[in-house]
Amino acid sequence: MRTEQPKTIYLKDYQAPDYLIDETHLTFELYEDHTLVHAQLVMRRNPERAANNPKLPPLVLDGQQLELLSLMLDDRELQPGDYQLDANYLTLQPTAERFTVDSSVRIHPESNTALEGLYKSGKMFCTQCEAEGFRKITYYLDRPDVMSTFTTTLSAEQHRYPVLLSNGNPIASGSEDDGRHWATWEDPFKKPAYLFALVAGDLWCVEDRFTTMTEREIALRIYVEPENIDKVQHAMNSLKKSMRWDEEVYGREYDLDIFMIVAVNDFNMGAMENKGLNIFNSSAVLAKAETATDAAHQRVEAIVAHEYFHNWSGNRVTCRDWFQLSLKEGFTVFRDAEFSADMNSRTVKRVEDVAYLRTHQFAEDAGPMAHPVRPDSFIEISNFYTLTVYEKGAEVVRMIHTLLGPQGFRKGTDLYFQRHDGQAVTCDDFVKAMEDANGVDLTQFKRWYSQAGTPRLDVSEAYDAAAGTYSLTFKQSCPPTPGQPTKEPFVIPVELGLLDGQGRDLPLCLQGEAAAQGTNRVFSVTEAEQTFTFVDIPEKPLPSLLRGFSAPVKLCFPYGRDQLMFLMQHDSDGFNRWDAGQQLSVQVLQELIGQQQRGETLALDPRLVAALRSVLENRELDQAMVAEMLSLPSEAYLTEISDVADVDAIHAAREFARKRLAEELFEPLWQRYQANREQSRQSPYIAEAEHFARRALQNIALSYLMLSERQDVLAACIEQFESADNMTERLTALAVLVNSPFEAERGKALEMFADYFKDDPLVMDQWFSVQAGSPLPGGLERVQQLMQHPAFTLKNPNKVRALIGAFANQNLVNFHRIDGAGYRFLADQVITLNALNPQIASRLLAPLTRWRKYDNARQALMRAELERILASGELSSDVYEVVSKSLA
Ligand code: TRP
Ligand code: ZN
Repeated sequence: MRTEQPKTIYLKDYQAPDYLIDETHLTFELYEDHTLVHAQLVMRRNPERAANNPKLPPLVLDGQQLELLSLMLDDRELQPGDYQLDANYLTLQPTAERFTVDSSVRIHPESNTALEGLYKSGKMFCTQCEAEGFRKITYYLDRPDVMSTFTTTLSAEQHRYPVLLSNGNPIASGSEDDGRHWATWEDPFKKPAYLFALVAGDLWCVEDRFTTMTEREIALRIYVEPENIDKVQHAMNSLKKSMRWDEEVYGREYDLDIFMIVAVNDFNMGAMENKGLNIFNSSAVLAKAETATDAAHQRVEAIVAHEYFHNWSGNRVTCRDWFQLSLKEGFTVFRDAEFSADMNSRTVKRVEDVAYLRTHQFAEDAGPMAHPVRPDSFIEISNFYTLTVYEKGAEVVRMIHTLLGPQGFRKGTDLYFQRHDGQAVTCDDFVKAMEDANGVDLTQFKRWYSQAGTPRLDVSEAYDAAAGTYSLTFKQSCPPTPGQPTKEPFVIPVELGLLDGQGRDLPLCLQGEAAAQGTNRVFSVTEAEQTFTFVDIPEKPLPSLLRGFSAPVKLCFPYGRDQLMFLMQHDSDGFNRWDAGQQLSVQVLQELIGQQQRGETLALDPRLVAALRSVLENRELDQAMVAEMLSLPSEAYLTEISDVADVDAIHAAREFARKRLAEELFEPLWQRYQANREQSRQSPYIAEAEHFARRALQNIALSYLMLSERQDVLAACIEQFESADNMTERLTALAVLVNSPFEAERGKALEMFADYFKDDPLVMDQWFSVQAGSPLPGGLERVQQLMQHPAFTLKNPNKVRALIGAFANQNLVNFHRIDGAGYRFLADQVITLNALNPQIASRLLAPLTRWRKYDNARQALMRAELERILASGELSSDVYEVVSKSLA
């Protein structure tokens, strides 16, 4: 907890370290009521900083919540007068250019609820050091530009902790007479402390092998608690696919002889890329048909790939400082997105990612915590593991890929890895490698790293029939964000095509060009206002703009609904066919929202019905795309695009549209549902794109059909719930029952489900989420009651996210109850969690920070809760930063 006002750290203040650590030798003695950590640091002065300073500066080691037992400088035992110690630092005075520091500390993993540093998850010991958790393990230079080799010895009671793991390769082990044993691991690759890991526990593992491109044999091991050993195969398959893909697409080979993954139940994020020893939230490893949905299977595949890819983009080449976080995260998210696109359906993956970005990252960019992809200041770095750094950062890398083309991009990454292997570098270094490998200038492009906010791109058209010319004028603007009142123009790559009356792409020839250069092209908008004129255009075309979502901007073009229907049918770009459908739905829903607010009778534009009917009847379309097209924009997205969000009107309008669509499209939905359910019944579960697609369509069809409240649909839903062989079908059936008016069936299904799965925490998370998200009245009371359920605990982040997080983020009508009870409830949980787990408390707060989106009454209620949190006592720097910036 904080004692003084926390300090703001600025990128502009960066200085290289005064000292370096060449070797780190650690010993851990793990006991039930404490742990002893001995660290030997082989250090020297940083030559870069020694140049014109003959005097040896003091050595300032980071350390928090450590009980110092002994300290030696070379062979000299230091006495309290020889060093200074406060809550954050240990300062001592070296007397030579090269020296060794030996320290012993006592720490308490057994009572560490923050899940940062060394802690216990259930019966096992594990670590989480990124970003600044290593300082809670030992005194160290806990910053990513200090890279060292590590040897680690752990000792623990043999029968409780038969498995002892750390980074690198195992080099020695043994047993003692007192029932304890030990193991030593050596990691030959220099790494920053945030990549350190250790694990001790009673674990089983699934083992496999991988032969690399140069025929090296790598041992692969996934460790889990014994009861989960049957849920590991999917992660292992994903790992082998990732390793092959990184060789084929980036030429990157794995470097150690062994690669390990450990699954733990208590984990603040998805997973962590510790060198050779990735530690995962069990929700990001465990998956089998009976207990994990298709979405969960795809999430496991993506996160396994993401962490594996970090071995190069993050570990071999790491970040100079935490402002450069997107250097590894944006790049690695781009890499895992491309991997998933190659493994499954490319268009579906893009649609999912863009829908997510537009809903959640755009909201972040418009809120009080808005920051650039490379932030220039922070109070608590844990608060900057954001959608902006990760997802927008990935979009920035994608734009470089679009601008340079796949081969140019590969030349850039080859140069980057070669030039910077073993170094801690910056986003500028990444871009420089791209520039140097391709002979291009990306100076203006780099504004994407430094300017926050979502640019808006207004497009207008002009057709000159006599001249046969067609012009598109682009105007870019970017709203102010905290600390950035004005912005310079971005480089916005716009991929586009022009459709003729038959829906065919016209050849694209700009004025001044000798000949047309294809029918799908990328143009860079670099000015505040810029016009592109196309020649030889025989009729007024319909533009298809920002194909594949070629830039993270809000594009505005005054499409009519008939034009959007035409694009839905004919656009050669699959992403834009989906996007046209979304824009059509948004227009129709906004009209309904207006009718609802004015107290008028709601009337659904029949064109939306017609458009979705033709999608449903099109047997050529990928079924996953049919499912995506049938999904109306979420309430969260409709909120994001409103000036003042009227949650109740949004919900009423969207539910009305869903109900009308269900009535109008009952027959085709029922047909496709039954056909797909029949196939599910006939064939065993497979985690593959084609099967994901079939079940996605089946499930969205079921959710519409249940709105009819017909008995035959109810019977089908119960049949699916009871006899499905997989969680994808079972959970959807449960969710639609939970949201239905069939009270008896709902209660029975919930009870059956909980009874059957009560011992599987990941399945119980889904059970909590389904109920937390139900918009039926009384949502808050249901959530409060569920917090008393024996399977719930505030100490497990997955449980907090599944119940409280799902309620505040997905159950908008109940969370935004006009009496403010939802806000009060969330603030109470944040205050409790602030003391237990600051990272989780601060993330849980996000919905309250969006108060500017709502009406005056709700604004006042939300602000009052933020004020109450601020006044609630000793706040962690995590919660303090978010609350104070939200109120500023
Ligand atoms: N580097 C991790 C990733 O792959 C992120 C992460 C895992 C993390 N655990 C964390 C970040 C705890 C902060 C705190 O994206
Ligand atoms: Zn990552």
